[in-house]
Amino acid sequence: MESGVAREDVDLDAYRERLEARLGKSREMMRIVLNKAQNDPKRVALGEGDNEKMIRAAYQLQDQGIADPVLIGDHDGIASTADDLGLDFTPEVVDPATDAPGAYADRLHELRQRKGVTHSEATELVERDSNYFGSVMVEQGDADAFLTGLSHHYSSALRPPLQVVGTAPDTDYVAGIYMLTFKNRVIFCADTTVNLDPTPEQLAEITRHTAETARQFDIEPRVALLSYSDFGSVENAGTAKPRDAVAKLHDDPTVDFPVDGEMQADTAVVEDILDDTYDFAELDGPANCLVFPNLEAGNIGYKLLQRLGGADAIGPILAGMDEPVHVIQRGDEVKDIVNLAGVAVVDAQEE
Ligand code: ACO
Repeated sequence: MESGVAREDVDLDAYRERLEARLGKSREMMRIVLNKAQNDPKRVALGEGDNEKMIRAAYQLQDQGIADPVLIGDHDGIASTADDLGLDFTPEVVDPATDAPGAYADRLHELRQRKGVTHSEATELVERDSNYFGSVMVEQGDADAFLTGLSHHYSSALRPPLQVVGTAPDTDYVAGIYMLTFKNRVIFCADTTVNLDPTPEQLAEITRHTAETARQFDIEPRVALLSYSDFGSVENAGTAKPRDAVAKLHDDPTVDFPVDGEMQADTAVVEDILDDTYDFAELDGPANCLVFPNLEAGNIGYKLLQRLGGADAIGPILAGMDEPVHVIQRGDEVKDIVNLAGVAVVDAQEE
């Protein structure tokens, strides 16, 4: 009897250890990222610098040594808002209307002249639209990262960085990733913000970005491509997309993380279903990266997980850009901006 109890204790300890190794201390994830940022803070340009939340975020970033913020906006307006908020700091400010270097319009014209943008239009864009100004600023190396989007539609804030900064050399697509931290597990969801109806090739690319992002947070990815079908249980054009994406990834010798699908969401996250029914699957534990078949599913899915599952959400992390650029959601809070700036700084440290 005694030895039975002892054996159970040992099993339980081993199980707990395995679980902890897999899941990590999720609540501490962001603290680790912010600490990494503090080791080597970078220059982060903040679009919509007149916005109260941006000014508060800039204060916290500077005060906590996470980043050297540069607010894009009107000098006097920002100074007086900071004063009204009782923030004792003098932020660095650049006003596109008065401070835009001529070189920025030249550069934007150079990049977009064969997309119909004349030099005078380029001048107007950098002087009047902080999304273009900030994009050129980071593309020219005058900032290490750029955050924007607080009061714009996501698409209109995203388009200028896509046009000016573009994708990293090894990819053609960017993806919006949310990291959701639950009490005892971390899940990365993609694509939640960019690609409306991704092809299998795009899904494969989104998968690579998601796995890479998980590794940036020191988490070894186990990726599931989601559907309403389990490994061919329903065959049609919709379920074929993630299936074809998985086939591409399995054929790619550079893919060095476990990935499988298509599979239903519960198959992906419940270890027993994988073990009992689909033991041939390449995942050796519940998935921690969920790749959704389209933007509707991804956007709805992460929001339900966040709101009903009580997860902390960090994102959207824009993966695949040539420089760290993140488009914040309208209405995001100061802590969301600070967190995403921390992610951008760590990203910039690796450039
Ligand atoms: N990855 C990388 N680059 C891209 C992508 C992509 N997925 N999509 C477009 N681009 C590039 C294009 O190549 C183009 O570059 P070019 O002009 O140098 O050739 C540039 O971006 C602009 O492309 P367009 O075709 O003009 O832009 P489009 O109208 O397709 O807009 C956008 C692209 C903004 C990403 C669009 O697909 C979109 O609106 N996506 C959904 C955004 C959204 O509503 N998200 C959900 C809500 S947001 C939230 O919940 C946080």
